[in-house]
Amino acid sequence: MSDPSTAVGRSEPWWSRAAVYQIYPRSFRDGNADGLGDLRGVIEGLPYLASLGVDAVWLSPFYPSPQKDAGYDVSDPRAVDPMFGTLDDFAELVEQAHERGVRVIVDIVPNHVSASHPWFVEALNSTVGSTARRRFHFLDGRGESGELPPNNWESIFGGSAWTRVKEPDGSWGQWYLHLFDSTQPDLNWENEEVRVDALNTLRFWLDLGVDGFRVDVALGLAKDMTYPDLIDPIGMSQSLRFDLDPTSEEASQRRAGLANSALFDRDEIQDIYREWRALMNSYGDDKMAVVEAWVPPERASRYVSEDTLHQIFGFDFLVVPWDASIMRDVIGRAIEAVSVVGAPPTWAMSNHDSPRVVTRLGDGDVGLARARALALVAHALPGSIYVYQGEELGLSDVEIPDSARQDPVWFRSAGQQKGRDGGRVPLPWSGSSAPYGFTELADAELWLPQPDVWAASTIEVQDIDPVSTLNLYRASLALRKSHPGLVSGDFEFLATDDPGLLAFHRGADVVVIANTHPHWVESPASGMVLLASGPIEVGENGLRIGPDTTVWLQT
Ligand code: BGC
Repeated sequence: MSDPSTAVGRSEPWWSRAAVYQIYPRSFRDGNADGLGDLRGVIEGLPYLASLGVDAVWLSPFYPSPQKDAGYDVSDPRAVDPMFGTLDDFAELVEQAHERGVRVIVDIVPNHVSASHPWFVEALNSTVGSTARRRFHFLDGRGESGELPPNNWESIFGGSAWTRVKEPDGSWGQWYLHLFDSTQPDLNWENEEVRVDALNTLRFWLDLGVDGFRVDVALGLAKDMTYPDLIDPIGMSQSLRFDLDPTSEEASQRRAGLANSALFDRDEIQDIYREWRALMNSYGDDKMAVVEAWVPPERASRYVSEDTLHQIFGFDFLVVPWDASIMRDVIGRAIEAVSVVGAPPTWAMSNHDSPRVVTRLGDGDVGLARARALALVAHALPGSIYVYQGEELGLSDVEIPDSARQDPVWFRSAGQQKGRDGGRVPLPWSGSSAPYGFTELADAELWLPQPDVWAASTIEVQDIDPVSTLNLYRASLALRKSHPGLVSGDFEFLATDDPGLLAFHRGADVVVIANTHPHWVESPASGMVLLASGPIEVGENGLRIGPDTTVWLQT
C-alpha cells in the first residue's frame, strides 16, 4: 500500500501528515488567574507545544455559550466567550502560533446551537410555522393533545430527542428536536438561512487566519424530514461503546444503523460540504476540514472526496483493543477506506469524548505501557495523527466525585452513565500539588478536581526525565518528520508467525513491531533501534522486545 498522502500526481498538503494537538481550552492552561483555562493560557503554552513538535492545534469551542455541554452549545459562533478571552486574544494566538510554525484549527458546531442563541429565543417567542421556527425542527406532538413526542428518536445523551415548549400564550405547544441535550436544539439544514449562516461562520474564522476546521457531528446535519419512527432508535451513547471490539458483529451492526439513516450520514449532507469546500478553496488550497463522523469505513470516502472535505477521523482506531490482529484489521480497513479517494487516513487514540487511552487499555502500569506502545504504532502510520491534550503525559482518567460531575450525559442518564468528565481534568504543568501550575489563582477550585497522584506526571517533571511519555512523544514526533521512511515511505504489513505481534514496514528501511504480549519476545526483524516505547534488550539471538512494547527499527 503506498502512502496515500504522497501518491504520485498529488502534491502533499501540510495536513496530510500533520501531528495535530487537541486543546480543550477550559482545561489546558489558565492565563488570567481566574481558575479556568483560556486563550491567553493557550498563547502561554505555545512554546511547550512547539517543543512537543506538533504541526497544528485544534481548539475545542471557545465561543459564547452557557456551557451546558462544555461549549458545544454555542450561542454565537462568531465571537469569543469572555470566560476564554477576546477576539484580540484569538488573533494574537493565531499570529504567535504561525510564528512558531503551528497552524490553528477551530471547532465548528453546525448541527445545533445553544438554546440561548438569538435564533432559538426568537423561535420560542414566535408562532407555529413561523420563519423563526423553520430554522429548527419544530413539530406537533402525537396523542390527543400533542402530549407525546413526534417520534421515538432518542437523544445521544439519553432520553427523548424531543422537548415540548410552552407557546408564547403560556399553553403547552410544539416539540423541538435535540439530538444532544435539550439546551442544544438541532438546526434545520433545509433552511437557506442556516446554510448561509454557516458559510458566514467559516468565512469569519478564515478571515482571521485559521488554517482549518474540525466539524462537530458532521454526519448529523441532514434529517429525514418525514421524521419516521426508527425500528431500533439507536442513541450514539449506545453506538459509541468503548468496550466494543470494532471488528465485532455488534459494532458493525451499530455502525450500519448509523449509516444513511433518518438522522445520520444521509447522502444530502455532501451537498452542504461541497459548498463549504468551494468556499475554503477560495482561500487557497492549504485550508482543511476534518470531520467527526462515526461511519462505517466504506462510507468514509464520501466525506473526504476532492469536492467535499479533507479528512475524517478514523474512529475505529480510537476504540481498538490491545490485540494485534484486531489492530491490523482496523488499520488496514482505515487506510483502504480513504485511499480510494486519495485522502490520507487519520489516527487518534483519545479525545475529549473518550476515556483516556491509558485507562481504556487497562490503567496503571500496564495501561501506560500499552498506551505508549500504541502511540508508537499510530505515530508510524501514514497520514495524520491527533493527540488529545494530556495524552502526551500518559494521564489516566480521573475518578470524579459524583457531586463534581459536569457532563450532561451524567445528568440525562440519571447517573447511569458517568460521562466524559474523567478525561477533561485541567492539565498538570508543574509543582507537587493541585492546581499543578495550571492557574496562578490562590486556592483555586478547578471546574474538575485534579488528583493527588499527578505530582509525578507534570510537564515540569517529565520534561527532564529522558524516558518520560512526554519525551517519547517528542522523539516520535520529531522522527516521523525527519526520517524519510516515516515521512513518505510505502506502508506494508509484515507477516509474522506470532499472532500477538503487529508489524509493518515504512519505506525500504523502517520496520515497526508492536509486542502485545504480557511477556518478552524475540524480534522478527533486526536492525538499529530508532525508538522503543518500553524495555528491549539485545541477547544471543538478537533483539528481544519487552511486554506491551513497540519498537521502531532501521533495517
Ligand atoms: C462533541 C461532543 C459534544 C457533541 C455535541 C460531539 O461530537 O465532540 O463533545 O458533546 O458533539 O456537540
